[in-house]
Amino acid sequence: MFNASAVHVLPQTNQLRALHSIIRDKSASQEDFVFYSNRIIRQLLETGMNLLPFQPRQVTTPIGASYDGLQLAVKLCGVSVIRAGESMEPELRAMYPGLRMGKILIQRDKETKLPDLLYSHLPPDIGERHVLLLEPMLATGGSALAAIDVLLKAGVPEQHIIFVNLLAAPVGLRRLLEAHPKLRVVTASVEQELTEQAYMIPGIGDFGDRYFGTA
Ligand code: URA
Repeated sequence: MFNASAVHVLPQTNQLRALHSIIRDKSASQEDFVFYSNRIIRQLLETGMNLLPFQPRQVTTPIGASYDGLQLAVKLCGVSVIRAGESMEPELRAMYPGLRMGKILIQRDKETKLPDLLYSHLPPDIGERHVLLLEPMLATGGSALAAIDVLLKAGVPEQHIIFVNLLAAPVGLRRLLEAHPKLRVVTASVEQELTEQAYMIPGIGDFGDRYFGTA
């Protein structure tokens, strides 16, 4: 059994469900799919950022009063899992201009069916940073586990990784959190199950194809 408190599911407000209804509709245009996915992605990223450590910051307002506020207490980095994870980069950059960004490319080997690391490029000081790992689809968890492995080998502690995800299958969540109990996951929905081809049900189809218009 995994640590359920490590999974932060966005509150299923009417607004969020309406956004899901647009992007899950098979007849949505690519333009709508991108626009409304981005609105959910923004909420996921804000929720992920909120799990990071903050420290006190006092500022003086224009009327000379002081405001006891907060500021991020750690160095941050975004890492996208190519290709679907790249859809989350523009919103993150808009929230955090100048943010360091890494990339990981994993593909399933056609013969062994196992995830194969093809490419990774990370900031050299990534071990000193907290990481938002961007991967909108968590199905069987194979490529997510491989991506986490890349970060751990680069020196990022498990508890410094926040997995930012749009849809998650229960089996993928279980595999991720059983292997990495200190990982945190932010998702907009935990789906029912997987088809034989590892698509989520009810799901969204192929996220990358729909987002990048390659269907
Ligand atoms: N990847 C997708 O794009 N969709 C799924 O349902 C599962 C994995």
